[in-house]
Amino acid sequence: MIPKETISSIFEAARIDEVVGDFVSLKRRGTNMIGLCPFHNEKTPSFNVSPVKGIYKCFGCGKAGNAVNFIMEHEQLSYPEALRWLAKKYNIRIEEEEQTAEQIQANNARESLYVVCSFAQKNFSQNLMESDEGRSVGLGYFRERGFRDDIIQKFQLGYSFDQWRGFSDAALKAGHKLEYLVKAGLTISKENTSPTEAGTEPQADRYFDRFSARVIFPVHNVSGRVIAFGGRTLKTDKKVAKYINSPETDIYHKSQVLYGLYFAKKKIAELDNCFLVEGYTDVISLHQAGIENVVASSGTALTVDQIRLIRRYTNNITILYDGDSAGIKASFRGIDLVLEEGMNVRVLLFPDGEDPDSFSKKVSPEELQTFIKDNAKDFIAFKAHLLYNEASHDPIKKAGLIKEIVESISLIPEPIYRSVYIKECSRILDVDEQALLSELNKLRRKKQYDKPKQEEEPEASGMPDELLQLAPGEKMESPAESADAEIQEKEIIRILLQYGHEPLKFVQEGEAGEEEEVEVTVGEYLIHELHGDNIEFENAGYKGMFHEFIRKEGEIPDSNFFIQHPDPAISKLAVDILSTDYSLANWDKHNIPVHLENMSLKQTVQSAVYALKNRKIEKMILDNQKRLRLSNNYEEQVILITEQQYLIQAKKSFSALLGRVILK
Ligand code: CTP
Ligand code: MN
Repeated sequence: MIPKETISSIFEAARIDEVVGDFVSLKRRGTNMIGLCPFHNEKTPSFNVSPVKGIYKCFGCGKAGNAVNFIMEHEQLSYPEALRWLAKKYNIRIEEEEQTAEQIQANNARESLYVVCSFAQKNFSQNLMESDEGRSVGLGYFRERGFRDDIIQKFQLGYSFDQWRGFSDAALKAGHKLEYLVKAGLTISKENTSPTEAGTEPQADRYFDRFSARVIFPVHNVSGRVIAFGGRTLKTDKKVAKYINSPETDIYHKSQVLYGLYFAKKKIAELDNCFLVEGYTDVISLHQAGIENVVASSGTALTVDQIRLIRRYTNNITILYDGDSAGIKASFRGIDLVLEEGMNVRVLLFPDGEDPDSFSKKVSPEELQTFIKDNAKDFIAFKAHLLYNEASHDPIKKAGLIKEIVESISLIPEPIYRSVYIKECSRILDVDEQALLSELNKLRRKKQYDKPKQEEEPEASGMPDELLQLAPGEKMESPAESADAEIQEKEIIRILLQYGHEPLKFVQEGEAGEEEEVEVTVGEYLIHELHGDNIEFENAGYKGMFHEFIRKEGEIPDSNFFIQHPDPAISKLAVDILSTDYSLANWDKHNIPVHLENMSLKQTVQSAVYALKNRKIEKMILDNQKRLRLSNNYEEQVILITEQQYLIQAKKSFSALLGRVILK
């Protein structure tokens, strides 16, 4: 358990713009900040952050919350995990109350995988720097390749001993469970280590290290935690796989990870461009040459998820691939994917036989920068150039080439860009623009036609009939009714959150019959009107929030109390309410509606109360009628009729009040 005071200091320290800023590139807009939403796929930013309120809200997908919610959602962590994450970021020590850190971590399998990977990284680095074998074999290798020590440390490179199970035994000895070593992909077990066997003693000869006698490249996620490893052999033997990589695990999904992104993201956003290379060593060598906006797809074909990851930071990708034919082919596939995502793509091929790593070692950092600047080509120019030589004298080949380029252009979602590229293509290849356009339109039509109809609504959920039927005696509320209740209750909570501490003036009759003015806060008034009349909320969420308001008598908690509430359901509701149209939709526009509403606050508050009470009375009247119809007991009928008259009377006076409040 994390103590309450620590939770408060975490909330105080965690500035929403800083926390979000680690993952999303934010631009200032007025008092707020805006960026591309990390939770859904978008090209124009609708993700808003309000440093003043301490909350974020995406007007595209509706996700909203405080700093802790953001980490929970983004890193897929539980509430306490997210708090720990932030505590670490802000160097806040957590004095555990009942459980120790290890126990909590052990309770959480994902966390255990991170813990095991972190241990492995440290272990491999230690081998590299401190053991004789590591220094002579591993470090010797890196140095021979020209990797500087500071770069080796930055990327946390390591070495795994030439042993059967040296790492696994070290990890077991340090108290890590075989189950997690296997699940993290570090240890291979011949046994079926199903979760039920967790903790059973490993048997001799039944497990061994995945990585041995290799130099190690740890793979970090966007927030810098180690999630996987690549191990390169030092042998030149062609039969040995050059790299061995971690398998897919619960924390490592290859297609959603880019090697080096953690180290590159700031620079990518700053320079508004991302270099994409093939391998670990390319990323590291470019860093060493001072080029830090670089990531690698690490051998796998580039995926859409990876491209979208980049798009959080920039719209521009420059693909730097080997100049061999495999590199060129890979770049073609990459280009189309990037275009399809509506991003701009440039391509640079290194001289044949060179990759960014080898080339960067041959020239000075300045020469490398210039080379990249001078040779990165727009994809049209790149494709045209490449194919031009072989096709210029062969009309059939030339036609094929043109078709291929137009196919790429047809993938671009924006019509304006398509037309610009068509013009460019017509100029470079000396072909009639109209001919290109008609080819383009043909392809677009075909694409529309071929597109699977995935956007269609899924079929009705096929809920079994018995679930839709009511149990005997159960009463079904009409959906409209409960929607009304929700709207009215939400309005009350909204007013409490936004104006709970504002004063309201009422004129009262004093003891001597004279008129006197009294002042109460909005919160006191609402609580008196509702709690005083024993009115219970129907919606569970708002009910919970209302109870928080009345919990401490005489003290109305402020909106921060709710935004930072440990019950995620409550903090989420608070954020949702505080980020709706009233305040956030007009984030840039000086909060005009709020200002106006403030002026007639009393009216707003009273209409909200009367509307809610009015509906309650209407409901009571209906219930009463029903009971009256069913009753065959004379005395009961008399009581019900009297009640009914009383209720109708109350409703009349209410409607009058409501009318007056609204009309005033
Ligand atoms: N790769 C892999 N498995 C292999 C070969 C390559 O996973 N058997 C991945 C690695 O992520 C590697 C990338 O593909 O970084 C690029 O491959 P390559 O260019 O062959 O390796 P480099 O990283 O350039 O390594 P080196 O420079 O040491 O040859
Ligand atoms: Mn290479």
